[in-house]
Amino acid sequence: MTFPDETVTEARSIIERYPAGRSRSALLPMLHLVQSVEGCVTPEGVKFCAEQLGLTTAEVGAVATFYTMYKRRPVGDWLVSVCTNLSCTLLGGQEIFDDLSRHLGVGHDEATADGTITFEHAECLAACDYAPVMTVNYEFYDHVDPASARGLVDALGNGERPAPTRGAPLCTFAEISRELAGLPPARADAVAGPAAGVPSLAGLLIAERDSRQASVADEPPAPATTSASSDGGS
Ligand code: FES
Repeated sequence: MTFPDETVTEARSIIERYPAGRSRSALLPMLHLVQSVEGCVTPEGVKFCAEQLGLTTAEVGAVATFYTMYKRRPVGDWLVSVCTNLSCTLLGGQEIFDDLSRHLGVGHDEATADGTITFEHAECLAACDYAPVMTVNYEFYDHVDPASARGLVDALGNGERPAPTRGAPLCTFAEISRELAGLPPARADAVAGPAAGVPSLAGLLIAERDSRQASVADEPPAPATTSASSDGGS
Protein backbone atom coordinates (compact mmCIF):
# COMPACT_ATOMS: atom_id res chain seq x y z
CA MET A 1 0.00 0.00 0.00
CA THR A 2 1.00 3.60 -0.37
CA PHE A 3 1.14 5.23 3.02
CA PRO A 4 -0.88 8.45 3.31
CA ASP A 5 0.76 11.84 3.64
CA GLU A 6 -0.27 11.94 7.29
CA THR A 7 1.78 8.82 7.99
CA VAL A 8 4.79 10.28 6.19
CA THR A 9 4.50 13.43 8.34
CA GLU A 10 4.23 11.35 11.50
CA ALA A 11 7.20 9.24 10.44
CA ARG A 12 9.29 12.37 10.02
CA SER A 13 8.21 13.64 13.44
CA ILE A 14 9.44 10.36 14.94
CA ILE A 15 12.75 10.48 13.09
CA GLU A 16 13.35 14.09 14.18
CA ARG A 17 13.50 12.97 17.80
CA TYR A 18 16.84 11.30 17.18
CA PRO A 19 20.23 12.98 16.70
CA ALA A 20 21.43 13.62 13.17
CA GLY A 21 23.12 10.56 11.78
CA ARG A 22 21.25 8.23 14.12
CA SER A 23 17.90 8.08 12.39
CA ARG A 24 18.08 4.29 12.34
CA SER A 25 17.32 4.45 16.06
CA ALA A 26 13.78 5.43 15.06
CA LEU A 27 13.15 2.03 13.49
CA LEU A 28 11.29 0.42 16.41
CA PRO A 29 8.70 3.20 16.77
CA MET A 30 8.46 3.42 12.98
CA LEU A 31 7.49 -0.25 12.82
CA HIS A 32 4.74 0.39 15.37
CA LEU A 33 3.61 3.31 13.21
CA VAL A 34 3.24 1.21 10.05
CA GLN A 35 1.59 -1.51 12.14
CA SER A 36 -0.99 1.03 13.33
CA VAL A 37 -1.88 1.71 9.69
CA GLU A 38 -1.78 -1.80 8.25
CA GLY A 39 -2.49 -3.95 11.31
CA CYS A 40 0.84 -5.70 10.83
CA VAL A 41 4.22 -5.09 9.22
CA THR A 42 3.84 -5.90 5.53
CA PRO A 43 6.61 -5.90 2.90
CA GLU A 44 5.33 -2.44 1.95
CA GLY A 45 5.72 -1.34 5.55
CA VAL A 46 9.27 -2.65 5.60
CA LYS A 47 10.00 -0.77 2.36
CA PHE A 48 8.46 2.42 3.77
CA CYS A 49 10.63 2.26 6.91
CA ALA A 50 13.72 1.51 4.84
CA GLU A 51 13.11 4.50 2.55
CA GLN A 52 12.41 6.89 5.41
CA LEU A 53 15.45 5.80 7.40
CA GLY A 54 17.96 5.18 4.63
CA LEU A 55 18.25 1.50 5.49
CA THR A 56 18.03 -1.60 3.36
CA THR A 57 14.86 -3.68 3.43
CA ALA A 58 17.02 -6.55 4.72
CA GLU A 59 18.05 -4.47 7.74
CA VAL A 60 14.47 -3.48 8.48
CA GLY A 61 13.19 -6.99 7.89
CA ALA A 62 15.77 -8.43 10.26
CA VAL A 63 14.44 -6.24 13.08
CA ALA A 64 10.76 -6.66 12.20
CA THR A 65 11.01 -10.45 12.23
CA PHE A 66 13.04 -10.60 15.46
CA TYR A 67 10.54 -9.02 17.85
CA THR A 68 7.24 -10.78 18.47
CA MET A 69 5.37 -7.49 18.92
CA TYR A 70 5.67 -6.92 15.17
CA LYS A 71 3.08 -9.03 13.42
CA ARG A 72 3.24 -10.58 9.96
CA ARG A 73 -0.51 -11.03 9.63
CA PRO A 74 -3.15 -8.34 10.20
CA VAL A 75 -4.23 -8.09 13.84
CA GLY A 76 -7.85 -7.34 14.63
CA ASP A 77 -9.00 -4.72 17.11
CA TRP A 78 -8.08 -7.02 19.99
CA LEU A 79 -4.80 -8.88 20.39
CA VAL A 80 -5.54 -11.43 23.11
CA SER A 81 -2.39 -12.91 24.65
CA VAL A 82 -2.35 -15.69 27.24
CA CYS A 83 0.86 -16.28 29.14
CA THR A 84 1.94 -19.90 29.03
CA ASN A 85 5.33 -19.42 30.63
CA LEU A 86 6.34 -21.14 33.83
CA SER A 87 4.65 -19.20 36.65
CA CYS A 88 1.40 -18.88 34.75
CA THR A 89 1.37 -22.44 33.47
CA LEU A 90 1.93 -23.78 36.98
CA LEU A 91 -1.25 -21.94 37.94
CA GLY A 92 -3.34 -22.93 34.92
CA GLY A 93 -2.12 -20.76 32.04
CA GLN A 94 -2.00 -23.60 29.52
CA GLU A 95 -5.53 -24.72 30.46
CA ILE A 96 -6.72 -21.15 29.96
CA PHE A 97 -5.03 -20.98 26.56
CA ASP A 98 -6.48 -24.35 25.48
CA ASP A 99 -9.96 -23.46 26.70
CA LEU A 100 -9.93 -20.07 24.96
CA SER A 101 -8.58 -21.65 21.80
CA ARG A 102 -11.55 -24.03 21.71
CA HIS A 103 -13.97 -21.24 22.63
CA LEU A 104 -12.74 -18.90 19.89
CA GLY A 105 -12.13 -21.67 17.37
CA VAL A 106 -8.60 -20.48 16.59
CA GLY A 107 -5.07 -21.44 17.50
CA HIS A 108 -1.93 -19.48 18.22
CA ASP A 109 -1.41 -16.47 15.95
CA GLU A 110 -4.80 -16.88 14.32
CA ALA A 111 -7.74 -14.50 14.04
CA THR A 112 -11.41 -15.20 14.60
CA ALA A 113 -13.64 -15.54 11.54
CA ASP A 114 -14.81 -11.93 11.82
CA GLY A 115 -11.20 -10.76 12.16
CA THR A 116 -11.79 -8.80 15.36
CA ILE A 117 -9.78 -10.96 17.76
CA THR A 118 -6.25 -12.21 17.17
CA PHE A 119 -5.24 -14.91 19.62
CA GLU A 120 -1.77 -15.91 20.76
CA HIS A 121 0.16 -17.52 23.55
CA ALA A 122 2.82 -15.33 25.06
CA GLU A 123 6.07 -15.83 26.88
CA CYS A 124 6.44 -14.26 30.32
CA LEU A 125 4.47 -11.00 30.40
CA ALA A 126 6.47 -9.74 33.39
CA ALA A 127 3.51 -10.07 35.72
CA CYS A 128 4.33 -13.37 37.42
CA ASP A 129 3.16 -11.94 40.75
CA TYR A 130 -0.37 -11.88 39.31
CA ALA A 131 -0.26 -15.27 37.55
CA PRO A 132 -2.01 -16.53 35.62
CA VAL A 133 -2.31 -13.41 33.49
CA MET A 134 -3.47 -12.47 30.04
CA THR A 135 -3.39 -9.21 28.15
CA VAL A 136 -5.52 -7.50 25.55
CA ASN A 137 -3.50 -5.05 23.49
CA TYR A 138 -0.86 -5.26 26.24
CA GLU A 139 -3.23 -4.23 29.06
CA PHE A 140 -3.29 -6.67 31.97
CA TYR A 141 -6.01 -8.95 33.26
CA ASP A 142 -4.68 -10.61 36.39
CA HIS A 143 -5.51 -13.88 38.14
CA VAL A 144 -7.66 -15.11 35.29
CA ASP A 145 -9.21 -18.55 34.99
CA PRO A 146 -10.97 -20.25 32.05
CA ALA A 147 -14.37 -18.79 32.96
CA SER A 148 -13.16 -15.20 33.41
CA ALA A 149 -11.03 -15.44 30.27
CA ARG A 150 -14.03 -16.61 28.25
CA GLY A 151 -16.11 -13.80 29.75
CA LEU A 152 -13.46 -11.29 28.70
CA VAL A 153 -13.35 -12.34 25.04
CA ASP A 154 -17.15 -12.62 24.92
CA ALA A 155 -17.38 -9.03 26.17
CA LEU A 156 -14.95 -7.93 23.47
CA GLY A 157 -17.07 -9.73 20.89
CA ASN A 158 -20.11 -7.81 22.17
CA GLY A 159 -18.38 -4.50 21.60
CA GLU A 160 -17.54 -3.89 25.25
CA ARG A 161 -14.17 -2.76 26.59
CA PRO A 162 -13.73 -4.49 29.96
CA ALA A 163 -11.52 -2.52 32.33
CA PRO A 164 -8.04 -4.02 32.77
CA THR A 165 -7.00 -4.98 36.28
CA ARG A 166 -4.20 -2.42 36.22
CA GLY A 167 -3.05 0.39 34.00
CA ALA A 168 -4.90 2.43 31.42
CA PRO A 169 -8.35 1.75 29.96
CA LEU A 170 -8.46 -0.59 26.98
CA CYS A 171 -7.93 0.79 23.48
CA THR A 172 -7.77 -0.84 20.06
CA PHE A 173 -4.67 -2.41 18.55
CA ALA A 174 -4.34 0.46 16.08
CA GLU A 175 -4.54 2.98 18.91
CA ILE A 176 -2.02 1.21 21.13
CA SER A 177 0.31 0.85 18.15
CA ARG A 178 0.27 4.61 17.69
CA GLU A 179 1.06 5.11 21.37
CA LEU A 180 3.92 2.62 21.12
CA ALA A 181 5.20 4.67 18.19
CA GLY A 182 5.36 7.59 20.62
CA LEU A 183 2.55 9.57 19.02
CA PRO A 184 0.09 11.47 21.22
CA PRO A 185 -2.38 9.02 22.76
CA ALA A 186 -5.91 8.93 21.41
CA ARG A 187 -7.21 8.39 24.94
CA ALA A 188 -6.95 11.23 27.41
CA ASP A 189 -6.59 8.73 30.25
CA ALA A 190 -3.73 6.75 28.67
CA VAL A 191 -1.62 6.91 31.81
CA ALA A 192 -4.53 6.67 34.23
CA GLY A 193 -5.48 3.73 36.39
CA PRO A 194 -3.79 1.78 39.15
CA ALA A 195 -0.20 0.80 38.39
CA ALA A 196 1.91 -1.39 40.66
CA GLY A 197 -0.17 -3.45 43.06
CA VAL A 198 0.58 -4.88 46.49
CA PRO A 199 2.13 -8.16 45.20
CA SER A 200 4.69 -6.17 43.18
CA LEU A 201 5.49 -3.86 46.07
CA ALA A 202 5.61 -6.49 48.84
CA GLY A 203 9.40 -6.56 49.11
CA LEU A 204 9.65 -2.79 49.06
CA LEU A 205 7.00 -2.43 51.77
CA ILE A 206 8.77 -4.95 54.00
CA ALA A 207 12.08 -3.12 53.49
CA GLU A 208 10.46 0.20 54.37
CA ARG A 209 8.79 -1.28 57.43
CA ASP A 210 12.13 -2.65 58.64
CA SER A 211 14.08 0.48 57.61
CA ARG A 212 16.29 -1.54 55.31
CA GLN A 213 18.25 0.01 52.49
CA ALA A 214 20.17 -1.52 49.65
CA SER A 215 23.88 -0.77 49.83
CA VAL A 216 25.21 1.05 46.83
CA ALA A 217 28.80 0.49 45.79
CA ASP A 218 30.84 3.67 45.28
CA GLU A 219 32.52 2.20 42.25
CA PRO A 220 31.14 -0.37 39.83
CA PRO A 221 32.96 -3.70 40.11
CA ALA A 222 35.95 -4.02 37.81
CA PRO A 223 35.33 -6.35 34.89
CA ALA A 224 36.80 -9.80 35.31
CA THR A 225 40.01 -10.26 33.39
CA THR A 226 41.18 -13.54 31.94
CA SER A 227 43.98 -14.44 29.62
CA ALA A 228 41.47 -15.92 27.17
CA SER A 229 39.81 -13.81 24.50
CA SER A 230 36.09 -13.03 24.86
CA ASP A 231 35.08 -15.77 22.44
CA GLY A 232 36.87 -18.35 24.49
CA GLY A 233 39.76 -18.65 22.06
CA SER A 234 43.39 -18.10 22.92
S1 FES B 1 5.19 -16.47 33.64
FE1 FES B 1 3.32 -15.48 33.14
S2 FES B 1 3.76 -13.40 33.60
FE2 FES B 1 5.61 -14.40 34.07
